[in-house]
Amino acid sequence: MNPIQMVDLKGQYEKIKAEIDEAVINCVASTAYINGAQVKAFQENLENYLQVKNVIPCANGTDALQIPMMAFGLEKGDEVIVPSFTFIATAEVVALLGLTPVMVEIDANTFNVTAEIIEQAITPRTRAIVPVHLFGQSCDMGAIMQVAEKHNLFVIEDNAQAIGADYTFQNGETKKAGTIGHIGTTSFFPSKNLGCYGDGGAIFTDDDKLAEKMRMIANHGQSERYYHSVIGVNSRLDTIQAAILDIKLKHLDEYAAARQKAAAFYDDAFQNIEELQTPVRERNSTHVFHQYTLQVKSGMRPRLQKHLKEGGVPSMIYYPIPLYRQKAFKEFVAPGFRLPVTEKLCDSVLSLPIHTEMTEDLLDYISNRVRVFFNHQ
Ligand SMILES: Cc1ncc(COP(=O)(O)O)c(C=O)c1O
Repeated sequence: MNPIQMVDLKGQYEKIKAEIDEAVINCVASTAYINGAQVKAFQENLENYLQVKNVIPCANGTDALQIPMMAFGLEKGDEVIVPSFTFIATAEVVALLGLTPVMVEIDANTFNVTAEIIEQAITPRTRAIVPVHLFGQSCDMGAIMQVAEKHNLFVIEDNAQAIGADYTFQNGETKKAGTIGHIGTTSFFPSKNLGCYGDGGAIFTDDDKLAEKMRMIANHGQSERYYHSVIGVNSRLDTIQAAILDIKLKHLDEYAAARQKAAAFYDDAFQNIEELQTPVRERNSTHVFHQYTLQVKSGMRPRLQKHLKEGGVPSMIYYPIPLYRQKAFKEFVAPGFRLPVTEKLCDSVLSLPIHTEMTEDLLDYISNRVRVFFNHQ
């Protein structure tokens, strides 16, 4: 057996190799490395897939968060509510722009922020909120948008981990995660559900005016070459990456189905292990399983992780430290500030390998290794 990996990018590539190789060689031969036709084609195909008016490709998922925050015209000291349990990028861009990240608790079961948690953190200085659709399922966006409208707040959905997930509103209408707030963002980091072969990202919005402004910001603040109306950044998706993403986009739903199948297998294998909690589903969202994350009963995680490693099974802790305990954010956090749910999750979560190429044999092997540890053979 080959070494087990958290994500099998090679196996996935092998299946689409002929198409990818041809597309990459065409890009190289065309010499249109920046803003080639493939970028526009991918943008349009993604707009179509997401059913959103504007997709703005950019250099990575962090820029995809920063550019909208620059476009909103926020001022120093304005507060932006972010979850405490996420990848640092979500809060990093807030601090980078001189804004104040306000880190809030998450739901103990779904790992996502809720409308209630957000509403409790709103102050007269709150201007924006960034719900993160963690591990592959959408936050309850219907309820979050109601709170945002009531308090007149911008909403940026950080959809780096849940592209392709469907959110269903109370009236039965369904929308893709990332297309419900004023802005949605994603990352095309290689291991993401829609990943390229380098860095990439995108911003989504139905608001044409905001889209125009963000396109300008992403392009050095210019809409006409060498005429710069605002301070911007240089953030582009390379032509080669767009060509690769356009091929992978056609497989995205099938990739999600493969991840869901693997998750169902794990759920089944672990259902009677009382020291483990398997991933709890959001009521109104499908789950595209960017991660399959267990909660391990207190104190057992290090031993379980060691036991898995000895059997050749990798596992990861997403995330070991709450954002508010990161040194980088110390100026934003009062001494002794603690969020108990976040603390508990940082001490108990464990993510198992999940990707598009998992066979029954592999799932069997990994889950047996877990079951043996808990004496459930
Ligand atoms: C939730 C979340 N937000 C933002 C990002 C940043 O994306 P990137 O690494 O493409 O800058 C990531 C990627 O790791 C992420 O998981």
